Amino acid sequence: MLLYESLAAQLREQIAAGVLRAGERLPSIRRLALAHGVSAATAVQACLQLEREGLALARPRSGYFVRAQPPAPLSPVPRRRVPRTVSNPALHEVIDMLSRRDLLPLHAAVPAPELLPGTALAAALARALRRNRTQALDYAPAQGHPPLRRLIAQRYAQLATAVSPDEVVITAGAMEAITLALRSIAAPGDVVLVETPTYHGILQAVAALRLKVVELPHRPGGGLDLARLDAVLQDAPVRAAVLVPNFHNPLGSVASDADKQALLARCARHGTVVIEDDVYGELAWSGQRPAPLRHFDCHGLVITCGSFSKTLAPGLRTGWLLGGEWTDALVRAKYHSTVGSPALPQLALADYLQRHDQERHLRRLRRALADNARRLRAGIERHWPQATRCSDPSGGLSLWLQLPPGGDGTALFEAALAEGIGISPGQLFSSRGDYRDHLRLSCGLPWDEHLERALRRLGQLAAAQVA
Ligand SMILES: Cc1ncc(COP(=O)(O)O)c(C=O)c1O
Repeated sequence: MLLYESLAAQLREQIAAGVLRAGERLPSIRRLALAHGVSAATAVQACLQLEREGLALARPRSGYFVRAQPPAPLSPVPRRRVPRTVSNPALHEVIDMLSRRDLLPLHAAVPAPELLPGTALAAALARALRRNRTQALDYAPAQGHPPLRRLIAQRYAQLATAVSPDEVVITAGAMEAITLALRSIAAPGDVVLVETPTYHGILQAVAALRLKVVELPHRPGGGLDLARLDAVLQDAPVRAAVLVPNFHNPLGSVASDADKQALLARCARHGTVVIEDDVYGELAWSGQRPAPLRHFDCHGLVITCGSFSKTLAPGLRTGWLLGGEWTDALVRAKYHSTVGSPALPQLALADYLQRHDQERHLRRLRRALADNARRLRAGIERHWPQATRCSDPSGGLSLWLQLPPGGDGTALFEAALAEGIGISPGQLFSSRGDYRDHLRLSCGLPWDEHLERALRRLGQLAAAQVA
């Protein structure tokens, strides 16, 4: 049992036994933390758990009170979304496609190698091996190489988001970070909330851990539909929400600061842990990096997942978690999973980050991605059927397209594959294979004639479907 669960159980017993009666104030967070020898974050979690169960009620600036009756719903439930298992066969096929090296990779949400600092990273790898061979070839600590953890924490400090190196856990990319976070806080059968559409890796992790999923759409103008979020959280206990608030994949949307805060307030009210996937946060094309959810987390509710895949090198397979009070559990999960991430990439990344001006590289990368996206959108306008709709993001690596009536993203994917062009069919981004008339294109490829020809060909194939 986690610390907060055990504290919640004790408080529950006191309520059941009448030691704490309806209307009475629970001990303050500070008192609870002191009396039980736990952190304030743990005490908050315990109170949130009781609130979620309808046993306690939070009053602004007064604390938590024992509730007289179970809470009434905040608003009528608009449409019941029943939690279900992920059942989308297309999710298995993506693994084959990702391992193909013979395609024009419009399906791969990564910057092209020429946009990444390959030479400097190769030098850093060689240096790490030459100077620290024993360490580079040994097991790394399960939590990760301390200098790299410190550098990651420093980067958040530059964003005015307080992070301690002690809560940074190095992982094999954000993908492993998401899996470890889910595995540490949810058990098979628990319900997890995701956005729809969402990154297929999140759906794969949810399926592999035998969790149930409930999907939440975005509002037409962008951002999570908070009214529906309320309904979903009231409908069934939701253990965790796995969200991509900054430059969402595939939508490209960014949640506003106000929406981020409102989202956290709702999740706090229901004791839902938020797993934030912030792999695209650094890729704001304007350079104005949106704040991570973690920045607004005053309840200790957020686990953040980050990665160097989209900014430095996907093949180094290095990402991280900001674990907060779950750090120990996450380090244990990491140890059970792989003992620790390989030492060499960690040493090399720490070396690279210390020697190079990361901001300078990011400025160039963001400009290139913005330019690629602009040209891709213009190419789509030129070569694709007129009624094709294309997202207009301000960062990240994805363009999300909707074909005109009669269009079929999966058929287009197959036709394109036969011609050596990779695209991502919309179906991949849903737990049950919705979005058949959608597809995602990556804007990681610099514009050239080859790309223009491929885009024109894709347009012809799309036009043939809707003619
Ligand atoms: C939203 C999102 N999260 C996580 C990942 C996986 O990142 P990594 O390569 O760090 O595992 C991706 C990759 O496309 C992604 O789009």
